[in-house]
Amino acid sequence: MELDEGQVRHFEEQGWLLLPSVFDAAEVALLLGELPGIAAQNRPENLREPGSGAIRSALSPHLYNEPFRRLSLHPRLVEPARRLLGGDVYLHQYKVNAKVAHDGAVWHWHQDFRTWHSDDGMPEPKVLNAGVFLDDVTEFNGPLMFMPGSHKLGLIPADAMADRSSVETYGRLAADAAGSPYARETLDGWAKRFGIVAPKGPAGSVLIFHGCIIHGSAPNMSAWNRTMTLASYNRTDNALRGPSRPGFVALRDFDPITPLADNCLRELARSTEAAE
Ligand code: SIN
Ligand code: MN
Repeated sequence: MELDEGQVRHFEEQGWLLLPSVFDAAEVALLLGELPGIAAQNRPENLREPGSGAIRSALSPHLYNEPFRRLSLHPRLVEPARRLLGGDVYLHQYKVNAKVAHDGAVWHWHQDFRTWHSDDGMPEPKVLNAGVFLDDVTEFNGPLMFMPGSHKLGLIPADAMADRSSVETYGRLAADAAGSPYARETLDGWAKRFGIVAPKGPAGSVLIFHGCIIHGSAPNMSAWNRTMTLASYNRTDNALRGPSRPGFVALRDFDPITPLADNCLRELARSTEAAE
């Protein structure tokens, strides 16, 4: 899973990189098949959509689910992360965002590193997200949207806005997170300067994006789920100093990841099939 120079340059310039069809149908089916069992559990790691109670984010599934544990250590995610960040990485945050048909609500425009810096004490933006599409991502089901190149702005503090409550609750993965930490005028200026892209692709695709890129997603009013895993890899020499959030939101195992074998999920998919 070696990135070529063009892909590295694309990530550095644009702040995001789409790798189509990295995981095959059996690997995707294995992971997706675990979700109903995960979503049915009442546990603090599971955040729900307001109103419907549908699963919004299942945080840290690797702590209790074997297929998702293996995905978080998968060489097809970890090796690109190491290459793009230029060193050893560990898992800072890990979640499945379900964005279910009809009920998947908005993720307002934000920058991940702002929260990771202020809440978790992450020193530098030597961090990225590696997402895996577990459903086809289309223009209809709330694709992630980026302002390409905005990662070059570095850390962007929240705007001082009249409604401090929305600023303070946003980005903490709270079920009641509301509003963007940035004022509309600020967002409009960036949208005109950087534009907006929404990378789309089939289930199994990998979407990598920089910790500083401005991103968000619209509600999913389609008939199709947009399930996506998001693994945040941080450089080991950039580990948290003084995290304030629970260990399942800001993970505390700062040891470098040794990736598993490339067939670690296929093997599990085969043995699960054989047992059925
Ligand atoms: C995120 O910003 O972490 C998630 C956005 C999404 O799932 O659309
Ligand atoms: Mn985010």
